[in-house]
Amino acid sequence: MSVKKVGIAGLGFYVPEKVVTNHDLEKMVETTDEWIRTRTGIHERRIAEKGTGTSALAAKAAVQAIGNAHLKPEDIELIIAGTTTPDMPLPSCACFIQQKIGAKNAAAFDLGAACAGFVYALAAGEQFIKGGMYKNVLVIGADLISSYIDWTDRSTCVLFGDGAGAAVLTETKSGGILSSVLGSDGKYAELLKIGAGGSKSPATNETVNAKDHCLKMSGGEVFKLAVRGMSDAVKKCCEMAGVRLEDIKCFIPHQANQRIIDAVGERLGLPAEKVFVNLQKYGNTSAASCAIGLYEAVEQGRIKRGDKICLATFGSGLVWGAMVIEW
Ligand code: ACO
Repeated sequence: MSVKKVGIAGLGFYVPEKVVTNHDLEKMVETTDEWIRTRTGIHERRIAEKGTGTSALAAKAAVQAIGNAHLKPEDIELIIAGTTTPDMPLPSCACFIQQKIGAKNAAAFDLGAACAGFVYALAAGEQFIKGGMYKNVLVIGADLISSYIDWTDRSTCVLFGDGAGAAVLTETKSGGILSSVLGSDGKYAELLKIGAGGSKSPATNETVNAKDHCLKMSGGEVFKLAVRGMSDAVKKCCEMAGVRLEDIKCFIPHQANQRIIDAVGERLGLPAEKVFVNLQKYGNTSAASCAIGLYEAVEQGRIKRGDKICLATFGSGLVWGAMVIEW
């Protein structure tokens, strides 16, 4: 029996309307537009209005992806929401997405892999189709990370933005996902975390006053591990796919920092014109990052049918992932 091939039948994305520029942040913390642009590459980011949940962003991306796949919400059999910022601890964000888009025939669950959520969710969705359990799987990468930002901490508040991306996976006759590499190393779990609000440290006055519900990060260490983790994952993924690095037409890395992207591109020997970058507009949108990048790269004609492309990502955990796809 031949192994099924799984490909992306439709893509969608959504970012909130509100733009927060580096100059806006200059008024909130001791920083400058120049520092943010030169140290990160970010010019502005989108921030959701208070009271919005991640599922609201994700549902908009999902509706677009389902439409682009020429399907109806009722055709979706599984929703995997790659997110670590669900609307609330329970029920899952995926169930709220299901409710909003009317995908009444779907099973739904969240997948927590921080910024690597989209690539992890794509890999998981692929397996459900290959195994024969489902035909149409909706995969989301979405985070509303602004809810967890300490807006007085200049070392983190300048980096992130809100957004959502979605893809519909179905069986394909040719091409599709050629290989995936997923990895994690829990020994670095403390480097990037939201320390309270979970079962170990539920909300108290003390945790709120200590801002333990906000994201904290050892930026420098994450930087080094991100460069190594993503480069190694891409090399391994290309090897598994039998694709040479020079044959990758478009490389879509996690959009966290231009300097990380440049260092990974250099390690892999990929020329800048093959490396997709949109972080100047959105900052780090966590699980949505690669999903939005993929959507925009296709929309801008940077990816054509038959092209071999590669996604690469890393995030809190630490986790990382890469995926080679024939478009
Ligand atoms: N404006 C002005 N100065 C700043 C700012 C700011 N916004 N932030 C930090 N600084 C200062 C620091 O206080 C420090 O000052 P000091 O030398 O007087 O102590 C100086 O700038 C240099 O700080 P560094 O932290 O060494 O700056 P660095 O060049 O490493 O850049 C950054 C920091 C941008 C955070 C970088 O380390 C980075 O991008 N790391 C990776 C982070 C990342 O990708 N995280 C996402 C992971 S994905 C996920 O799962 C969410």
